[in-house]
Amino acid sequence: MSFFQLEATSGEARAGRIYTSHGVIETPIFMPVGTRASVKTLWQEDLERMNAQIILGNTYHLFLRPGHELVEKMGGLHKFMSWDRPILTDSGGYQVFSLSDINKLTEEGVTFQSHIDGMRHLITPEKSMQIQRALGSDIVMAFDECPKLPATKETLRTSMELTHRWAKRCKTVELKEHQHLFGIIQGGLHYDLRMESMEGLKELNFDGYALGGLSVGEKNEEMVEFCKKFVPAMPKEKPRYLMGVGKPLDVLNGIKAGLDMFDCVLPTRNARNGQFLTTHGPLNIKKARFLEDQLPPDPECSCQVCTRYSRTYIRHLFNVGEYLAGQLISYHNIHFYLQMVKGAREAIFRGEFDDYYKTFYNNYTTNRW
Ligand code: GUN
Ligand code: ZN
Repeated sequence: MSFFQLEATSGEARAGRIYTSHGVIETPIFMPVGTRASVKTLWQEDLERMNAQIILGNTYHLFLRPGHELVEKMGGLHKFMSWDRPILTDSGGYQVFSLSDINKLTEEGVTFQSHIDGMRHLITPEKSMQIQRALGSDIVMAFDECPKLPATKETLRTSMELTHRWAKRCKTVELKEHQHLFGIIQGGLHYDLRMESMEGLKELNFDGYALGGLSVGEKNEEMVEFCKKFVPAMPKEKPRYLMGVGKPLDVLNGIKAGLDMFDCVLPTRNARNGQFLTTHGPLNIKKARFLEDQLPPDPECSCQVCTRYSRTYIRHLFNVGEYLAGQLISYHNIHFYLQMVKGAREAIFRGEFDDYYKTFYNNYTTNRW
């Protein structure tokens, strides 16, 4: 069986299936972020109950703590965290730059000081593959450099070329039999650099292709325009993944452009600041107007939280600092993303993605709260 099967299209939007040894992923899909082997505040049971199909883990964090050797000794990441559905691990390329103190970039790799204890480490493309092999994730990401925008075209070219040489080195490392390796396209907002990056990666024949280096300082419209123009040129027979993006409407725009996979910390991070994402836009539970509000957080949502708890109660929990507030909001928010992509998938099968897009967009931007 092939790894990816394209099932239907509606405009550029695609519905498909990704086959892994831990189960099938129906695309388009949103992947909750479980950086340190936990989707913050949620139980694995919670994620199963809302039909999360795949979660993400981070090489950088798991390498530092508890260490990939321990995870491997404990039977791999799936067994360690008791999650037997698919897992994708990011390579550390991005986190090394955004989180570690000092980093020295050479052809060899990146030397950095741990954000935890200041210890010095070197991550190379080969090392990232060894760590991800030990973790045993189903989808492994190539080790890349992700420059912040704005950056000069020259900087972006140098970085993209380094990412290409690193991708080649990633390909030389043998992974476990069940693992699939994705290449990461870089090149900022320059169409020509991105094309060059993609053509180079295509020659290496990755199992899927990701767009990295987006939502890193450019304007939102610039990212949307870029995806609209670039994504249709990406291979049709492989999964297309937009890394680290984004808000609900960013994901919807990504689907419209023809992307299949998305991840973002937003639904869980914003939850811990009291933000519900609802059919009619973001709702901040801290607001005084919810003091005596007995409605569910999102009256149009069928999740376990919205069918049982009220705004007044969750506002109280949040105000007194009860952990349950962050948990309930995280549950709803992830459920919201999963329903959004499920609705998109169903609309693609009906050939009505544009209607779905318009309805979702109009509802979401008519903020009632
Ligand atoms: N997450 C968000 N953007 C990126 C990127 O450019 N590279 C990697 N490895 N991870 C990301
Ligand atoms: Zn809900």
